[in-house]
Amino acid sequence: MDDFIFHNPTKLIFGKGQLAQLKKEVPKYGRRVLLVYGGGSIKRSGLYDQVRSILDDLHAEVYELSGVEPNPRLTTVKRGIDICATEDIQFLLAVGGGSVIDATKAIAVGACFDGDPWDFITRKGTPVDALPFGTVLTLAATGSEMNPNSVITNWDTHEKYGWSSAYSYPSFSILDPTFTETVPKNQTIYGMVDMMAHVFEHYFHRAPHTPLQDRLCESILQTVIETAPKMVADLENYQLRETILYCGTMALNGMVSMGFSGDWGSHNIEHAISAVYDIPHGGGLAIIFPNWMKHTLDENVGRYKQLAERVFHIDASGKSDREVAEAGIDALRAFWTHIGAPSTLADYGIDESKLDLIADRAMARGEFGGFKKLNKADVLAILQASR
Ligand code: NZQ
Ligand code: ZN
Repeated sequence: MDDFIFHNPTKLIFGKGQLAQLKKEVPKYGRRVLLVYGGGSIKRSGLYDQVRSILDDLHAEVYELSGVEPNPRLTTVKRGIDICATEDIQFLLAVGGGSVIDATKAIAVGACFDGDPWDFITRKGTPVDALPFGTVLTLAATGSEMNPNSVITNWDTHEKYGWSSAYSYPSFSILDPTFTETVPKNQTIYGMVDMMAHVFEHYFHRAPHTPLQDRLCESILQTVIETAPKMVADLENYQLRETILYCGTMALNGMVSMGFSGDWGSHNIEHAISAVYDIPHGGGLAIIFPNWMKHTLDENVGRYKQLAERVFHIDASGKSDREVAEAGIDALRAFWTHIGAPSTLADYGIDESKLDLIADRAMARGEFGGFKKLNKADVLAILQASR
């Protein structure tokens, strides 16, 4: 494996009833609070009232930024930064899914940044500090609750980029599985695809000898594969929600990826598709990832074979290594189809007309991919195979 330093400062507060911990956490950071949330799911579920009641008991001065979009937009981030400045905000509380948390990260960093937030999102500028923020997660998917990453869309230019900084880890995150029981079936499926995709992005790396990391990754994949079909049939099952919520956090909080850098090419392509068509992130990944796998198979057939045998239990007898590896990729596609994920761009009404534009968007920062470096021709080939 490669040398590494691991540091994750986010306090993880997990379990039923843990919202009460807000009473201890929020006063550490200040009274002037910006509450950030999405399009209204937290109002329908009653979580909004619970959070407001705790903040009121703390005599917090609460300001609100609501309406954060799925695939959060730069314009919303700027609205939040303005509120922080005009109301002298001391602490931000994100209540929602990955989009709400990602927007909150950009607002927290943007409030301490001299310039346009798009500059640090596009890596033209460097974050220098952030307002402290915490999260109450309502959707198991991105891992944003315990990582420093954020993905923001500039809808004017149709660009969607991930960024990250030392300042954008949540101070704490509260994960109560009951808050995820209202997530509709389609978003539940997208979330499970996304967390599996995060593990795959780790799994396909070039560092030698990572036996523990491989098995940690495989254990998350196996747990999601075992749980997901039951989850889609029983959306309000607490234990299944609990398992999936924990898987989502572990898939992208750095715990299983120490000692190597993964690939992230499929994510880059998916972000480019979402920038042009505004489709759900997990849905896009379900379409792209198996085709990226077929495209990169020859980089390391042995690794694909290992995945096929250990995770998808492909019987290798009488088959070549390549056949076993391919059977594993086919099993992944079949599994995602089985739980109800999309499999082609046509499932979202996307035809060939803008594939070139999507490929250009994906290439905006140059060639990418840690396992296999992709150029525009590679990206176009993967998009064509995804039609
Ligand atoms: O906006 P509201 O009304 O809250 O509704 C949301 C939204 O419509 C709804 N929802 C969330 N929790 C719910 C709920 N509905 C009912 N009950 C609940 N408990 O679900 C919809 C989708 O929410 P969103 O936050 O967009 O989903 P997700 O968590 O999948 O986040 C997706 C975003 O995260 C980025 C993606 O690109 C996308 O922009 N990513 C962030 C990453 C990170 N920060 O580490 C990594 C990922 O790879 C990903 O790129
Ligand atoms: Zn993702």
